[in-house]
Amino acid sequence: MHSNKSQRGQKPLLSIENLKVSFKLENQTINALKGISLEVYPQEIVCLVGESGSGKSVTCYSILKLLDKNAKAEGKISFEADEEKIDNLLETSDKQIRKTRGNKISMVFQEPSAVLNPLLTIGEQLMETVLAHKKVNKDEAKKICLNAMEKAQIPDPERRFNQYPHELSGGLKQRVVIAIATVNNPYLILADEPTTALDVTVSAKIIALFKKIKKEGKSILLITHDLGVVAEVADWVYVIKEGQIVEENNVYEIFENPKHPYTKKLLESRPMFNLKT
Ligand SMILES: Nc1ncnc2c1ncn2[C@@H]1O[C@H](COP(=O)(O)OP(=O)(O)O)[C@@H](O)[C@H]1O
Ligand SMILES: [Mg+2]
Repeated sequence: MHSNKSQRGQKPLLSIENLKVSFKLENQTINALKGISLEVYPQEIVCLVGESGSGKSVTCYSILKLLDKNAKAEGKISFEADEEKIDNLLETSDKQIRKTRGNKISMVFQEPSAVLNPLLTIGEQLMETVLAHKKVNKDEAKKICLNAMEKAQIPDPERRFNQYPHELSGGLKQRVVIAIATVNNPYLILADEPTTALDVTVSAKIIALFKKIKKEGKSILLITHDLGVVAEVADWVYVIKEGQIVEENNVYEIFENPKHPYTKKLLESRPMFNLKT
């Protein structure tokens, strides 16, 4: 094996150790994550790939303590950035996780309607996110919001600012969710299939935005089905199957020299891609 972890920098930004998540149902327990470990280093785009139901979203929810009430999570998720150090995100108080969420670590959810409040304008929802964490006045906050909307490829942000979610197409709503996730300039963005609802052109622009965010020193944990996107942006790839990481490596090795049969199968199911990192 040519790769080794030293190529990924010294201190991880996020480190998941032996994370187990189970869900208790009426007459059964579902073991969604069976002890996964993964790291995201500063200024890195890490892709988590695997088929539907393998535990990708549950991984993201665990990081931000957003798991459903019937979930039990064990293990350790540590986070360290500048002056910010959290020993185990699973054990944080509500107050601390609220300070972290949307600010130090944010999430782009798979389903925009799950995040957007239908009763509030786009602007109100963005402003709320900024004002909850930053000491700025309303004019400054609005400027920050409009800037994030523009970066998230929302045309005519001034007009959209005053609109309600139902007035926007699915693709635009998804871009609003991306604007909300990026507005506070977090260290880490958890992006759960962020471009699935978007057409190819907008999707490419969002991917370009993610690359820019990385260039600015931040990290992204990206869940995607699109191996073309993985080939284009990933520094490191984790392959997850039925709640277990079956392979991890740098993007070249994953594509050129996959070890696990499951990784090979994933690559075969999508033979057309362009490795141009
Ligand atoms: N609230 C829940 N209750 C019971 N099972 C759940 C719950 N949320 C997720 N699961 C199960 O956990 C597994 C992983 O789900 P998920 O992380 O959403 O998969 P994906 O990789 O498609 O994002 C699936 O088997 C799913 O059915
Ligand atoms: Mg999912």
